[in-house]
Amino acid sequence: MSKISTPPPGTGDIFPDEVNSWLAIENTARRVFGLYGYGEIRTPIFEYTEVFQRGLGDETEVVKKEMYTFEDRGGRSLTLRPEGTAGVMRALSGTDVMNGVENRVFYIGPMFRGEKPAAGRRRQFHQIGVENAGRVAPALDAECILALTQFLEEIGVGGFNLMINTRGVPEDRKPAEEALREHFKPVIDSMCDDCRSRLERNVWRILDCKQPECQAHIVSAPDAASLFAQPSRDYFNRVCDILTSLDVKFTVEPRLVRGLDYYVHTVFELTHSGLGAQNAIAGGGRYELHLPGFSKPVHGVGFAAGVERLLMVREALGVKPEPVRTPDLYLISLGARALAFNWKLACELRREGIYAAVEAEEKSMKSQMRSADRLKAARVLIVGDTELDSGTAALKQMSDGAQRQIALNAVKEELFK
Ligand code: HAM
Repeated sequence: MSKISTPPPGTGDIFPDEVNSWLAIENTARRVFGLYGYGEIRTPIFEYTEVFQRGLGDETEVVKKEMYTFEDRGGRSLTLRPEGTAGVMRALSGTDVMNGVENRVFYIGPMFRGEKPAAGRRRQFHQIGVENAGRVAPALDAECILALTQFLEEIGVGGFNLMINTRGVPEDRKPAEEALREHFKPVIDSMCDDCRSRLERNVWRILDCKQPECQAHIVSAPDAASLFAQPSRDYFNRVCDILTSLDVKFTVEPRLVRGLDYYVHTVFELTHSGLGAQNAIAGGGRYELHLPGFSKPVHGVGFAAGVERLLMVREALGVKPEPVRTPDLYLISLGARALAFNWKLACELRREGIYAAVEAEEKSMKSQMRSADRLKAARVLIVGDTELDSGTAALKQMSDGAQRQIALNAVKEELFK
């Protein structure tokens, strides 16, 4: 086997100088979603395949083409989670959400989709998502969108484009499906292979197609929502009214269907011009999700944002990366005695919350100064035999080179001054 030094294509390593920006985004999510009553949930990275097949719908691209599915040693079919909602609902199915009791959770973690890697599209990517399960009300859909926009603004990702639409409820869809089929049927031979097979199997998926030869026919498709029953149209109008009353800017996009089959009523997607072709930074909506072993679906509303894409937008907007922690003190040791003293001192200072850096073995003064510079230490303390004998040493401020003598038994106090 050849030496492995890179991860598989479409996955990625995240190094310490990048992690701080990830943490800043994650911690803002924790804080903002906490204000809306969401508690953090952590579910397994893989689930029984059925959870996604049933939850997301057999006909979705994700289930048909993108899942990483494997058998374990017991012959059970397992799948690396391609999204968070199905697994989270599987977890919440053990609570009262099935009986209409509200439960608000958020999650942060890796998801896996076997897509062709491109800028902003990875096979392992990370989502931050929320799910408000159990209850159905237009105000909850609007509130969910508000939590998302507040989060985006607080991480410095302003200027996004919010599109919303309604998928109605399953009972609404027949007349709309017929109207869509009637529209596409005469031109279906000029559309892509996928759309041809979608016409009978799942005509809604055609609206999601990005192929140029299909786009011309998609833009002229009838507005399906206008054919939905009045209660569904009222539900959507209420969501729009609440958003408008709160000055949230959005556009109603009649062809927005979203790629997962569990959606009902409100769907939304946020794009940003700071990204290339993969311009969706977040998406979500209300859903009725079917779980294996349950006769009735679980109701909820939620969204997920792609962390890699949020970071790309932040960079495009010139948001500075979060700084990496640098040493408060670099201990320079001249000789074996000084090294032993500094090593012990560094251990004591760290217990006091001070970031102290020290070499593990004897090095020249020049090499230690170079390390202190590279690590961007705020101060250095130079200790040799003379300093140990006198009990004082020079503390140098790296920003301006200012130096003063301090007592070796009061380093902590000097640093806290
Ligand atoms: P989604 O639209 O499939 O929705 O994914 C949400 C976000 O994840 C996208 O807007 C995008 O930012 C990011 N994303 C998706 N695929 C990739 C990829 N291959 N590489 C990088 N980023 C990606 C869902 O997953 C739903 N579960 C959202 C939801 C929650 N709906 C209701 N509750």
